[in-house]
Amino acid sequence: MCGIVGYVGKRNALPVVMDGLRALEYRGYDSVGVALWDGAKIKFEKTIGRVASLEEKIARKPWEGKSAIAHTRWATHGKPSDRNAHPHFDCTKSIFLVHNGIVENFSELREALLREGHNFNSDTDTEILAHLIERPFLAAQKKILLEDAVLEGLRHVNGTFGLAVMSKNDPEKIVVARRGSPIILGIGIGEYIVASDASAVVNITKNVVYLHDNEAAALMPSGVQIFNLPDGKASLSKKILKKQIDTIDWDIAQAQKGGFKHFMQKEIFEGPSALENVLRGRLLDLPSALSGGGGGGIKLGGIAQIKEKLLSAKRLLILACGTSYYAGLIGKYYFEEFAKIPTACEYASEFRYANPAIDSETAVILISQSGETADTLEAMREAKRKSALTLGIVNVVGSTIARESDAGVYNHAGPEIGVASTKAFISQLGALAMLALFLGKEKNTVSPALSEKIVKELKGLPNKMKRVLGKDEEIRKLAEKYLKHKNFLYLGRKYQYPVALEGALKLKEISYRHAEGYASGEMKHGPIALIDENFPTVALAVKDPIYEKTISNIQEIKARNGKVLAVATDGDEKIGKLADDVIFIPQTLEILNPILSVIPLQLFAYHTADLLGLDVDKPRNLAKSVTVE
Ligand code: M6R
Repeated sequence: MCGIVGYVGKRNALPVVMDGLRALEYRGYDSVGVALWDGAKIKFEKTIGRVASLEEKIARKPWEGKSAIAHTRWATHGKPSDRNAHPHFDCTKSIFLVHNGIVENFSELREALLREGHNFNSDTDTEILAHLIERPFLAAQKKILLEDAVLEGLRHVNGTFGLAVMSKNDPEKIVVARRGSPIILGIGIGEYIVASDASAVVNITKNVVYLHDNEAAALMPSGVQIFNLPDGKASLSKKILKKQIDTIDWDIAQAQKGGFKHFMQKEIFEGPSALENVLRGRLLDLPSALSGGGGGGIKLGGIAQIKEKLLSAKRLLILACGTSYYAGLIGKYYFEEFAKIPTACEYASEFRYANPAIDSETAVILISQSGETADTLEAMREAKRKSALTLGIVNVVGSTIARESDAGVYNHAGPEIGVASTKAFISQLGALAMLALFLGKEKNTVSPALSEKIVKELKGLPNKMKRVLGKDEEIRKLAEKYLKHKNFLYLGRKYQYPVALEGALKLKEISYRHAEGYASGEMKHGPIALIDENFPTVALAVKDPIYEKTISNIQEIKARNGKVLAVATDGDEKIGKLADDVIFIPQTLEILNPILSVIPLQLFAYHTADLLGLDVDKPRNLAKSVTVE
């Protein structure tokens, strides 16, 4: 939700922040803007639209300067427009800032500032912040450091922010602050870059500092100073902090398209390596004779310290949003089937306000690709307040959920840039399967033989995934065939039910086709009324113990003239006679079927959107990480 970037240092700051904006555009693309200190004054440009629109506007401006801030917006307060684009500024145009987050007490602050004589140039909550920072400068007749003015201004704010500020009153400096929205500082030699995430930083440096909530920093060519935001509203004293420098372990090439037309397409094709990466070093597949009956073991270093507490948990609760939530629904089956622990999976956004009955005997598993989703993060904090053990299954290293959870498993799937999540889902299933097996082995609810069998199959799965990806062209033709349809039903049962939900989500979010995911058995309780020749069903009909039930559901659809596009297992002759079209996938274990069956659905959604000429990687109204509630 909004991307912010800022640079201070020896290079011309403009191209650096423009590169950063391009990397962050997936976070929001309603409007875009930049402010630059050129040594004499702050120049700025902003516009509705995407980074390319800003590039056009500044193409003929020979701007140069050593510090700049920039922003790409996902609108909350105030519709997308030039005037609502960031940076925002105060009455005298001496303070410029970019912001990711929401000022919750925006109306009352605006009223108060209007009464004091401030004028507003936008409908945004963000602009309030510029005026709040202007006030201490006015009071001190400009004899105040920018960081102190920012701290004073922020004392009045309720809500969330990741912000970067510059001022002609204290030039060549950028001040950043964080509460609830991510900020990462890149520490170069004689130069500093700040951004909402690492993709905008890696081009300049791999040495980074993750700012925590209620921390701020002043970046100057001579160095960086990090300090805390004062506690409460009364005090202004700031404490200087010493922070650890971490190293980013991936490359800029991984955040580029690498010959694919879209990031989403590239990331679907990275599914096999995403699975390999999450499994790497964590599967112990020694034959049982050699490992004393312990073959098929799982080693999860990230949870070693909390192992005993986890094993004593009476129940598990999985919390997540969107695609991560659907992975969690599959995880629930894994934990109940292998570890025999009662498990629930809930939307993080619902959990927060439900006054949940959890305690220290509950282990809460947070699943999040970004590790920054506001609902999941706040749900985790609520779980911690209730003394639950918290575990993160997170892709982005150093993200807030990864840092604040008690323990966890990193996905190591590499950057996922396409707004539609694909390889992260595959990787989350790998992590959940390992965690469930680990618990099952420790509790002796999974036999070594079964564990060995699963571990062996997991290891061979990337090759089977590649075989499914080999059907790309076939799936594109099917997408073409079904392109005229505007509504779809996706059906699946047990492990395939969350896959149906995920397939429907993929189609609707990038192709704007209405798609409803449903449990096959529930169809007869309502949705069957929708079925006719214009309302096709995507049926997940893989060979598993409930295959015959699924076949019966398909019969019911065919009896009502419904068209069926099935995903089925190689060698299934029955389905070919029943469904209108079939995408075959290799045979695997029931629990691992989702990792294969989701791929055709990802490709189907991708090709549908691409054939419709839509912006696959940046679908309308969406953003990659949803850092507002
Ligand atoms: O980063 P997270 O996994 O926490 O994100 C959760 C959802 O916002 C995300 O999965 C969203 O639903 C995607 N657009 C789905 O493709």
